[in-house]
Amino acid sequence: MKSNLIVRLLIIGAVLLAAGFVAGVANPFLPARASAEAAATDNLFNIMIGIGTIIFLIVEGALVYSILKFRRKPNDETDGPNMHGSTALEITWTVIPSIIVAYLAFASFQVFTQTLNPRDGEIVVKVLGQQFQWVFDYPHDPNKQYRTSDTLVLPVDKPVRFEIAAKDVMHGFWIPEFRIKQDAVPGRITEVRVLPTLKGDFSVVCYELCGTGHGVMRNAVKVVDAGEYDKYVQSLEIIPPARPLAGEHNAEWGKYLIQSSKYACGGCHFLPDANIAGVTGPSWVGIATRADTRVPNQDARTYIQHSILYPNEFVVPGYPANLMPQNYGTLMDDTDLNSLVDYLLLQKDDPAKAAQAK
Ligand code: CUA
Repeated sequence: MKSNLIVRLLIIGAVLLAAGFVAGVANPFLPARASAEAAATDNLFNIMIGIGTIIFLIVEGALVYSILKFRRKPNDETDGPNMHGSTALEITWTVIPSIIVAYLAFASFQVFTQTLNPRDGEIVVKVLGQQFQWVFDYPHDPNKQYRTSDTLVLPVDKPVRFEIAAKDVMHGFWIPEFRIKQDAVPGRITEVRVLPTLKGDFSVVCYELCGTGHGVMRNAVKVVDAGEYDKYVQSLEIIPPARPLAGEHNAEWGKYLIQSSKYACGGCHFLPDANIAGVTGPSWVGIATRADTRVPNQDARTYIQHSILYPNEFVVPGYPANLMPQNYGTLMDDTDLNSLVDYLLLQKDDPAKAAQAK
């Protein structure tokens, strides 16, 4: 009888271990492994899945067994036996979980510290989280102007250190395929390191609830050859056009003012042609088409000019007044103001571009 019980327990134990092992090895839920750090993280995760599976089967198995075996028989009105306390059981269910938790803490800490170690020749990419997109600033010639990018392009097999900042509220910088995660916190720079090992298209996802646009706060990640990366960074250079002479103005200069962030238009407005992608203000896609009919007896040029100088004169429906700074009249000279208007007057409706407008 007793040896019968031991055999049964051994069989149950073997089945549980096998189930845990299969669950850990066959776990289909993880995305592609695209970094040197990913294998250690996956390994740890699979061990947790395996342990979790065994505990789940023990608890649920005992529950189902008890429901079937100890249910009330017909016409049985007696009380169940009165029992309490089992020192052996209590020690068992305290010691085993403590060992498991201590082991996982130790193993997790080891994996975590791996991601802190600097590597030789790191590329430092500055990351800014803002409502509701990420922007990336690559290392470049300090004597030239470069625009930021909303795509994260990285060379394969080159170590990267991200310096992460947040503009408004907390965001979470997460690239699932790299298995890295780091908080973006206003007022401080946080870091995370990675060595991309797989070329391909992935994404940066924000994992911290940061406002109404949180769900759409994801940007493309492209891991490419070193040559392609250099070419991409070069393509971000802004070559300033000649400033118009006093009393003159032109659209080229207007576009440069926006691209170079001289007046922070891109923080709120959206216009792919000038590489800006703000969402808190009205989109500029096709603005020239709308500008003609916004205010009675005001032509497009006057409307756009007034919208910059006196933003509360006409507020686009759906947006609050006073969101737009009221002091551009004192910040801009006539050349800048009229050049901006020149450029915006070129933004005619185009169905393909309008579809991108938010
Ligand atoms: Cu940014 Cu969620």
